[in-house]
Amino acid sequence: MSRTVFLNGDYLPEEDAKVSIFDRGFLMADGVYEVTSVLDGKLLEFDGHVKRLERSLGELDMGKPKDFDNLLEIHRELVSRNNVDQGGVYLQVTRGVADRDFVFPKDAEPTLTLFTQSRPLLDTPASQTGIKVVFSDDIRWGRRDIKTVQLLYPSMCKMMAKAAGADDVWLVEEGLITEGSSNNAYIVKDNQIITRDLSNDILHGITRASVLIYAREAQMEVVERAFSPAEAQAADEAFITSASTFVLPVVSIDGAQIGEGTPGPVSRRLREIYIDESRKRAI
Ligand SMILES: Cc1ncc(COP(=O)(O)O)c(C=O)c1O
Repeated sequence: MSRTVFLNGDYLPEEDAKVSIFDRGFLMADGVYEVTSVLDGKLLEFDGHVKRLERSLGELDMGKPKDFDNLLEIHRELVSRNNVDQGGVYLQVTRGVADRDFVFPKDAEPTLTLFTQSRPLLDTPASQTGIKVVFSDDIRWGRRDIKTVQLLYPSMCKMMAKAAGADDVWLVEEGLITEGSSNNAYIVKDNQIITRDLSNDILHGITRASVLIYAREAQMEVVERAFSPAEAQAADEAFITSASTFVLPVVSIDGAQIGEGTPGPVSRRLREIYIDESRKRAI
């Protein structure tokens, strides 16, 4: 049975949802997106994702789609129609359809698409074993704070990681780690949780914001600063965060085993706290 997806105001079977070849998302990656996780059929961190979407649209001078104020209802409807218990809702807004030109079109109507993906989020194999990351140069553009659909380099990074027998990359720029290909990066040293401070160099993770609040509430010490590859390899623990992985332990960094090579206590505790707290707040 095919999924029901959403396209510009309509709920459609996925095979009937068609977008023009002149859509600027297709031609120029002129679009932004969000992924909201679903647990127990409810949305996690919905408000955070919509706020970041609004910011991404504003930074790119892109109009809001007509249904912007109905996004909660659309998310819920798709989760319900597709019987999603665990998984995510992918949302994309592009600048819309216009004849190909570098200049932004004046009156294009933004294209809004949403679809669901069902997949286990809680007891995944990676959450039990932890993941391995390798380093890669961060050659992305300078506005990584905007969640655009330009995902070619992150895709290449995942392929490079796979070829190297790892799960993901940690990106390195000017001798410092920025973030993972689709997640924020953290190390733990002497019980201090260290993660890069916010700037245009990284995506301002919605999960990151909540995890740092919960960590501080649990009296854990958090330091927001950049750290080097060498510091990462000498860490007691490491982990990543993202909407779809929550808090996920990292047990190997570019060939260096971290701690005992198994998920450490701080990462495990933060994962538990994050899942408990976001579940309580799910809508
Ligand atoms: C580059 C990058 N950094 C960080 C994140 C984590 O952000 P969030 O916690 O909002 O999913 C993502 C998520 O896709 C990402 O692509």
